[in-house]
Amino acid sequence: MKVTRLELENFRNIGHAVCEPAELTVICGDNGQGKTNLLEAVWLLTGARSFRGAKDAELVRRGCEFAAIEAAAEAGGEERSIRLTVGLPGTARPGRTARLDGADQGRAARLAGVFTAVVFAPGHLSLVKGSPEGRRRFVDAALCQLYPGYLAEYRRYLRVMEQKNALLKHYARTPGADGMLEVYNDQLAEAGQAITARRQTYLETLAPLAAANYEAISRGAERLTLEYRPSFGPEGLRAALEAARAEERRCGFCTVGPHREDVYISLDGQPARSDASQGQQRSAVLAMKLAEAACAQQITGHHPAMLLDDVLSELDEGRQKYLLTRMEGRQVFVTCCDPAAFGRTNGKIVQMRGGRLEERG
Ligand SMILES: Nc1ncnc2c1ncn2[C@@H]1O[C@H](COP(=O)(O)OP(=O)(O)O)[C@@H](O)[C@H]1O
Ligand SMILES: [Mg+2]
Repeated sequence: MKVTRLELENFRNIGHAVCEPAELTVICGDNGQGKTNLLEAVWLLTGARSFRGAKDAELVRRGCEFAAIEAAAEAGGEERSIRLTVGLPGTARPGRTARLDGADQGRAARLAGVFTAVVFAPGHLSLVKGSPEGRRRFVDAALCQLYPGYLAEYRRYLRVMEQKNALLKHYARTPGADGMLEVYNDQLAEAGQAITARRQTYLETLAPLAAANYEAISRGAERLTLEYRPSFGPEGLRAALEAARAEERRCGFCTVGPHREDVYISLDGQPARSDASQGQQRSAVLAMKLAEAACAQQITGHHPAMLLDDVLSELDEGRQKYLLTRMEGRQVFVTCCDPAAFGRTNGKIVQMRGGRLEERG
C-alpha cells in the first residue's frame, strides 16, 4: 500500500502540512524541526500507538484540542482513505479514532492490518544487546499492526496482572485471597497463552527470513538464529502458574507469563546478547527489520511502508547499500540532516523547517 497524499493538522509542531509522497521520500532538516514527527504521523495510520511511546495527548499541537492525519492510499489499484484524529482528554472525541473510506471505525486500533509500516530508528540498534522488554516490544509492535485483536488481548492480560500483583502484595491481609488468585490465574492463563502462541507463530515466520537476510549481509560469515522463549512448557501457562504459586507469594509479583519472555538471538549457536560484536549486532538488527517487513507482506499481501528515521548515518556503506537495495517495491520515507547523501537520488526531497514542509527540487 502506498500513501499518495498526506495532510496533517495540528500534529506535534506541524500546524498544517500537505505532502504527496513518492516511492522514496527524503525528509531533510536540522534537528528538532519535525522530521520524526512526520514519520510518526505516517506510522499512526497503522492504528498502532506512537513508536516513540508517546501518550496520545502529546501528539496534539500544544494549545490545540485535536490533531488530524488524513491520507489517501493506493493498494492493488484500489483507492483507500484513512482519517485519524487525536483528541485531548475531555474533548468531544478523546484519544485516537479513525475513519476508513469515510466510515467511522471508532478506536484507531481497529485499523490494524489496513496499512502496515516498519520503522527503523537508531534506538533499534540496541535490540540485540538490550533488555528482553525491547525485543518483546519489537514483536508486539508487529503483531498489533497485523492482528486487530492482539492489543486488546494484551491490555486485558496486563490489567489482570496488575490486579494479581496488588493481591500478591497484600495477600495475608486480603480475605478470600486464595479464591481471588484462582480467578486471576484462570484469566491470565487464557489471555497469556494466546499472546505467547501468537508471538511464537510470528517468530516461526520471522526467523528463516531474518536468517536469509543475515546470510546475505554478512556473506555467510555466521548463521543467525531467532527463537521465541516462552516462560512455560508444553504443560501450559495455567499449570506453570500453579507451580509458581509459592515463588510468586514470596516475590510478591507474577513470575511467569508473556511479560517475562524473550526472543533468543544467537550467532552460530552463541548468544548474540553477550557475544556479538557491534558489526554483528547491526547486521542482526538490519536482518530482523527487513524480515519484519517481509513478514508483514506475507501476512497481509501488501508491502509495508518503510520509515527510516536517521538510521542511514548509523550504518556503514555496505549495510546502507544493502538496506536501500532491499526497498524495491516498497514505499520508503527517510529522514536525514544532510540532503547531500541523497544528491543523486530519484526520490522526492522535502525540507522540514520549524514544522513547515517545503518541497525541494
Ligand atoms: N505536541 C507538540 N506541540 C508542539 N510542538 C511539539 C509537540 N511535540 C513535539 N513538538 C516539537 O517538535 C520538535 C521535535 O520534532 P522532531 O520531529 O522530533 O524533530 P527532528 O526533525 O529532529 O526529527 C521539537 O521542537 C518539539 O518541541
Ligand atoms: Mg528526529
